[in-house]
Amino acid sequence: MTTHRPTRRNVLLGGLGVAAAATLTACTGTRGATSAPPTPTFGAPSPVTPSAGQKVVEKALTAKPATLDLGGRSVATWAYGDTAPGPLVRATAGDLLRVTLDNQLPAETTIHWHGIRLHNAADGVPGQTQDAIRPGAKYAYEFTAPDPGTYFFHPHVGVQLDRGLYAPMVIDDPTEPGAYDAEWILVLDDWIDGTGTTPDEVLKSLVGDAGQSTGPMNGMDGMGGMDHGSMGNMGAAPWGDAGDVTYPLFLINGRPPTDPEVLTAKPGQRVRLRIISAASDTIFTVALGGHRLTVTQTDGWPVQPAEVDALYIGMGERYDAIVTLKDGVFPFVARPFGKTSGGQAMALVRTGSGTPPGADTSPKELSRQVLIGSELKPAASAKLSAREPDAVAQLTLDGSMKPYRWGMNGAKFGENEPLTVKAGQRLRIDARNLTMMTHPLHLHGHTFALPSGLRKDTVLMAPMQSFALDLDADNAGDWMVHCHNIYHAEAGMMIALNYTA
Ligand code: C2O
Ligand code: CU
Repeated sequence: MTTHRPTRRNVLLGGLGVAAAATLTACTGTRGATSAPPTPTFGAPSPVTPSAGQKVVEKALTAKPATLDLGGRSVATWAYGDTAPGPLVRATAGDLLRVTLDNQLPAETTIHWHGIRLHNAADGVPGQTQDAIRPGAKYAYEFTAPDPGTYFFHPHVGVQLDRGLYAPMVIDDPTEPGAYDAEWILVLDDWIDGTGTTPDEVLKSLVGDAGQSTGPMNGMDGMGGMDHGSMGNMGAAPWGDAGDVTYPLFLINGRPPTDPEVLTAKPGQRVRLRIISAASDTIFTVALGGHRLTVTQTDGWPVQPAEVDALYIGMGERYDAIVTLKDGVFPFVARPFGKTSGGQAMALVRTGSGTPPGADTSPKELSRQVLIGSELKPAASAKLSAREPDAVAQLTLDGSMKPYRWGMNGAKFGENEPLTVKAGQRLRIDARNLTMMTHPLHLHGHTFALPSGLRKDTVLMAPMQSFALDLDADNAGDWMVHCHNIYHAEAGMMIALNYTA
């Protein structure tokens, strides 16, 4: 049997709040089998030298406590600077990024560059690719961003993502004609921090006594999720029970619908929307009132253009769409799927006169043809070469809401065996969701192809849904595969994917 590297558990425990860490430490303690693993030391990152002619894009970020004004409500949180989302990081495909993070938080942190196919050392996973960055310390992330697209970044420590620690990242395509007049980045979020609780407290209350349960999980645990509630609580198609956390607010670009961002353009202009979900526990249905959207990319990869009224977006997913604007004022709405409180997220699009719709406006597009992203067809340029897999890895998503236990391959992270792959292989991950919830499955350092050939790095898996996900093992290192519901991930719904010799 493969043995675990002793560092795995630190990824999980690395940055939890003190209280939550105490819970999980206690729970780990009940396993009692082994002594605490030693703290790994990765040291300072090795400097990366630009190749001949490679452009270098430098950026300095500070993670710090911040107070945000959410429509007149002041919330204390952590952010990259004084706003959430934090500052855009933008470069052209092939550039070398040098981003320095100054950690002014009262906690350890890291940055994970979500969706970027970068070298392993810059991936931002504490205990796996680096030591967590201590309070007061700085860390330089240096990496080449090879693929154009819409991305974002966030910590890979505890549930810090559910604070204000997220920001968009755009990698431009030097060969793209850019057949649009304007570009708008729309970052969606579910917000709870500083509203009388913190994400660490939310995690603690979710995990509750479940943290004390031990032993392997299996498909039956997954089915146990059916006890989660009456049929009524199982939610509607296509996602069923989609979230656990009751959020008071939903935001677009850091603004609540009562004080929305107003995006302006001229009637008839073509706008490229870059829609990013930085949410932690919410799937949104997204629409622009009075318009249809032509979806052109997902997770950075081009698709056969698909014209839709609305689309679903899971935590960590991105969609790019082109829209030709009409004359007037229109709501861009992100409606939380299956959540009945907290309202919705909204921004306004203004190209002419008119009275803006209210915060609870309900564009009819939301209930028309709503795209399920995994049903998009890939553009020819996004396809993997035709090839049979050299290896198949089984991956089950396991767990239940009551008790709140989530894992992969029958156990929570730290207790499950890493998946392995050899460099050069075409790996098929046979992913099966054995639970009654929807999970956005995310892979680091690579993108996978669905059976249709669609390329993504994050895919929504509905209850009991399966996908064969193919990837080329062309980026050696130790990587993560996990649910991008950050509470599920922290409860254990993660697994490593390690290259072996
Ligand atoms: Cu955005 Cu490991 O995730
Ligand atoms: Cu999940």
